[in-house]
Amino acid sequence: MSASRNGLPKRPAADVGETTAEVVEAAPDFLTADPRSHAQLRRVALATADAVAAARLQDQPFSGADPAQLAAAIATIDPCPDDGVALDELLAQLRDAVLAHGVHVSDPRCAAHLHCPTLLTAAAAELAIGVTNQSLDSYDQAPAATLVEDHLVRWLAATLGLSGGSGVLTSGGTASNLLGLLLARERAGARAAAHGAGVGGLPPEHVRWRIVASAAAHDSIRRCAAVLGLGTGCVTAVATDDAGRIDLGALDAELAALASAGLEPIAIVATAGTTDLGAIDPLAPIAERARACGAWLHVDAALGSGLALSPRLAPLLDGIELADSITADLHKLWFMPIGASALLVRDVALLAAVHHHSDYLNRPEDEVDGVLNLVGRSLDTSRRFDALKILVGLRSTGRLRMAAMVERLVALAAGAARAVDAHDELELLAEPSTVTVVFRWRPGGGEAPLPDDLIDAVNVAAQRALLRSGRAIVGRTRLHGRVALKLTFVNPLARESDVGELLDLVAEAGRAAARAGVAVR
Ligand SMILES: Cc1ncc(COP(=O)(O)O)c(C=O)c1O
Repeated sequence: MSASRNGLPKRPAADVGETTAEVVEAAPDFLTADPRSHAQLRRVALATADAVAAARLQDQPFSGADPAQLAAAIATIDPCPDDGVALDELLAQLRDAVLAHGVHVSDPRCAAHLHCPTLLTAAAAELAIGVTNQSLDSYDQAPAATLVEDHLVRWLAATLGLSGGSGVLTSGGTASNLLGLLLARERAGARAAAHGAGVGGLPPEHVRWRIVASAAAHDSIRRCAAVLGLGTGCVTAVATDDAGRIDLGALDAELAALASAGLEPIAIVATAGTTDLGAIDPLAPIAERARACGAWLHVDAALGSGLALSPRLAPLLDGIELADSITADLHKLWFMPIGASALLVRDVALLAAVHHHSDYLNRPEDEVDGVLNLVGRSLDTSRRFDALKILVGLRSTGRLRMAAMVERLVALAAGAARAVDAHDELELLAEPSTVTVVFRWRPGGGEAPLPDDLIDAVNVAAQRALLRSGRAIVGRTRLHGRVALKLTFVNPLARESDVGELLDLVAEAGRAAARAGVAVR
């Protein structure tokens, strides 16, 4: 083996042979300047759209397929055969074996989770995201896309009250919460006298740090604390009132207890739209307390941020403008395809805590004349151009229509609560705050009341039976230790009549489970 100019031994190039080159060039697999590749893009896009549409002809939210049979059918699919399968054949197989057995999020009887139908324009923009494959870590991989994301996050920050603020897009609310709490931890670290390390370096003081959140805060807060090296035990759970909002008296007591124990609340997490009750914590009074004790205020508005689109509902978020950071999920009440979330900050300089230079990616000498490398704001390196679909979805729909959709969902939840109240076999467990209704099957009337354990077991069985049949997908959670059912309204296509039908299905399933004598666990 001969040596090259730098003295390193020269290696012969791998002999891939002529056939490989011919095979690679045979089909227009990639979008190029060649019009044949444009025609191919249109063909595959249309064929894919047809397959998705054909799988959506079913008139119920789920096929009810048996999980074992589904797994067996999927196991027969060879992920990478030697020779590619013709697209039409492949799509037909996927349509029948996979797409037809998804949950249909645009069916009004699909109401378990914060899992919305997506605006078609935004979903179609996913094609542009995939084909153009801009990577949002560095300007030289995504020049215009970088500026679009920057423009969008500034608009989102301003819309949520952080005028002059900014942020970064993430894959979801969990990732946004992680980044928000990382910033809080870094600020606490910067304050600690012994702290000298960058991200990930924890000073000895960290054992005294606490993150204060309500008992109804999303589970991801505890997971984030664990990832941040603070342990789940560092999250203190403050009691909530009947509506599921943080109880300010309990918060004051908790902060006082921490102070007298020599513990430091590095962050207070307020939730604007809790997962089960949709409750919005009293943001302004919480901000006051955060300021007084020097804690970072993170508002988890994964759910509630969409309320800002409506001038009528936006006042529910009063006080959010006092946050240091906000989580806003666009894949919830903004009807965007997953993943679409933003971590917003009142000052972009706060994101410096995650800023690192890398010789190959974001060289400081290049960051001049408006050149922006968004890797400096993010925990990701390669990152999708999700800003495009958000921009397309918002601009094509318009604020008024977006607001009308969110308003309808809030009205629908209020109407559903009244319908539950009026139903002989259902019991409302909390007044809805925004878009969720929590209730349970529990027949009233003259009969002797059934024991709570039996009611719990019936509700579990009813929810499962509905999923198994595919006729309705309702949520199940626990409230005050008892099993509760939940309807989550994130589908603007749902009507009051659908809600009535859904409640009747739940009542019927409850009755059937009770008749069948479910086992009490
Ligand atoms: C209040 C709240 N925060 C955060 C999350 C996590 O969001 P994601 O599922 O996008 O990670 C959820 C999810 O439902 C949520 O309800």
